[in-house]
Amino acid sequence: MIVMGIESSCDETGVGIVRWSGGAAELLADEVASSVDEHARFGGVVPEIASRAHLEAIVPTMRRAREAAGIDRPDAIAVTIGPGLAGALLVGVAAAKAYSLAWDVPLYAMNHLGGHVAVDTLEHGPMPECVALLVSGGHTHLLHVTDLARPIAELGTTVDDAAGEAFDKVARLLDLGYPGGPALDALAVAGDRTAIAFPRGMTGPRDARYDFSFSGLKTAVARYVEKCARDGVEVPLADVAASFQEAVADVLTMKAIRACTDLDVDTLVLGGGATANSRIRSLAEERCATAGITLRVPKPRLCTDNGVMIATLGAHVIAGGAQPSPLTVASDPGMSV
Ligand code: KG4
Ligand code: ZN
Repeated sequence: MIVMGIESSCDETGVGIVRWSGGAAELLADEVASSVDEHARFGGVVPEIASRAHLEAIVPTMRRAREAAGIDRPDAIAVTIGPGLAGALLVGVAAAKAYSLAWDVPLYAMNHLGGHVAVDTLEHGPMPECVALLVSGGHTHLLHVTDLARPIAELGTTVDDAAGEAFDKVARLLDLGYPGGPALDALAVAGDRTAIAFPRGMTGPRDARYDFSFSGLKTAVARYVEKCARDGVEVPLADVAASFQEAVADVLTMKAIRACTDLDVDTLVLGGGATANSRIRSLAEERCATAGITLRVPKPRLCTDNGVMIATLGAHVIAGGAQPSPLTVASDPGMSV
C-alpha cells in the first residue's frame, strides 16, 4: 500500500509518500515548500501569506513527490485536517479531496500532532507505548501514545505561548531576526546558563502537572533588558540567551520525564522544529539517561512540519482498520488530539 500525506497546517506545504509493508512505513518521497522567508519581515507567520503560498505550492509539490517516488497515484491520501491555521489547512484539505475524487482513492483525515510522533518510526522502527513532547512555533504538547493507529491522549499543553514562539519573541527582543530559535541557540553557546535566574512557569505545587506557560518567562526577559537600559549597562546577550534557553529546556524536560515516571512509560519521543535546540536535546538526553528512559528524536528534517509524517501516520491508521473519511470532512483548526 502506498500512502500520500499532505500537510499545510502552518507555513510548510509538505507532500510525502510512504510504502507500508511488513508492518512498517518506508519513505519514498519527502517534498516541502516553505514560505518562512516571506514571513521573516513580519516576525511571525502571517496566515494570509501562508494560505496564498500553499495555494501556489500545493500542485507542484504533489507533482514533485510523485516523480520522486516514481508513482502515478497513491493507493490512499492522508491529509492534516488540524490543528493549524484555518486558511492554510483549507488548501491542503481541498487538494486532498480533489485528488481523492479524481484518482478514485480513499481519503483519510489526520491529526497533525500524531504525525510528529509517527514520523519517528521511519528512523527508529515500531513505536512502543510512549510519552511525546512536541515543541514548535505553533505547539507545545505532552502526549501519551499507546498505539499510533488509535486516538492519542493529551496530557498537557501550553496555556499561553508555544515554546518555539517564546524563542522567536525573545529573539526579536534581542534583535536576532526571525525565526529566532536557531540564532538564540547559537548565541547561548558562549553564555552562562546560570547567570540569570529566569522563572520556570507552572512548576509550583498547585500548578497543573503537565501544562506549560512561557509568557511570564518572556516578560521576565523583557524586564531584564529594560533594566539593563535603565542602568546604562550593555545587555549580556549570550548570558540572557543561555539563561532563557535553560529555563525553557528545564521545564519541558522536567515535565516530560515526570509524565514518563507517573505513567510508568520508558520511551520519550521528541518532535517539532524547536527540538533542534541543542539544550533541549542535551538536557533530555541527560535526564532520560538518569531516569532509565529511552529517548527517540527524529532527525531535524523530519522534526519540522512535512508531508511524510502525515503519510506515516496515515499508513498506521489505515493498517489499523480505520474507515476512509467522507469527502465532506472539514478542516478543524482547533482540533485537539
Ligand atoms: O516545526 P517548525 O519548523 O514550524 C512550526 O512552528 O510549526 O518549528 C519552528 C520553530 C520556530 O519557532 C523556531 O524558532 C524554532 O522552531 N526553532 C528553534 C530552533 N530551531 C528552530 N528553537 C530553539 N532552538 C533551535 N535551535
Ligand atoms: Zn508541527
